Amino acid sequence: MPATTAPTGYSRLQIALHWLVFALIAQQYLFKDAMSAAWDRVTDGLEAGFDPLVLAHVAGGALVLIFALWRLTLRAQRGVPPAIEANKLQGILAKLTHVGLYALMILMPLSGSVAWFGGVETAAQGHNVLKIALLALIALHVVGALYHQFVLRDGTLARMRRAQC
Ligand code: HEM
Ligand code: HEM
Repeated sequence: MPATTAPTGYSRLQIALHWLVFALIAQQYLFKDAMSAAWDRVTDGLEAGFDPLVLAHVAGGALVLIFALWRLTLRAQRGVPPAIEANKLQGILAKLTHVGLYALMILMPLSGSVAWFGGVETAAQGHNVLKIALLALIALHVVGALYHQFVLRDGTLARMRRAQC
């Protein structure tokens, strides 16, 4: 059942999933070289061989997808607190950033899977373009969070630290 009134804060589960996904995405970028090397071997017609970091990339990416879908379900069922907006433009920018982050948390694992399991080179190229878009949106999101914290001082960051229930 969708929430009739918006909650005043994020739930413990919503906050846990937010930071878990942050850690998973960080490891996707930090240990990406193993996956790229394995992909190079595959496209050269060689055996990929077993590498725990490749497994971590596939499993980590799959978890990002599952957790993103879970978060979207929670948003629909429980809801999220109303946005703290400094002005209309900034509110629209924050909303677009969140939509883009969700889209990429879904498209990154999908394009990666089509490349890896389907052997589709175009999907790998798409994955490589999307990785830059995701990084750019994360940077924008973090700058926004820090602007709220240190310039506006409106308690936005605290909403992703302290659960409402
Ligand atoms: C949110 C999830 C994911 C993120 C953030 C992510 C991120 C990345 C990054 C940063 C690279 C390195 C590209 C480079 O600079 O060389 C990469 C490569 C790759 N990833 Fe992912 N990935 C994700 C999920 C997945 C999944 C689930 C799979 C497969 C099941 C996958 C398959 C690949 C493949 C095959 C490459 C090599 C592409 C190439 O080097 O051209 N990725 N990924
Ligand atoms: C991989 C990195 C990240 C992703 C993909 C991400 C994604 C998101 C998304 C989609 C939301 C919207 C609310 C929701 O549905 O849960 C959100 C909210 C939020 N994020 Fe992140 N986030 C990331 C990293 C960070 C970091 C590093 C910070 C802190 C510096 C941060 C601070 C916040 C805050 C404070 C909110 C609440 C905004 C509000 O209540 O209006 N996030 N994040």
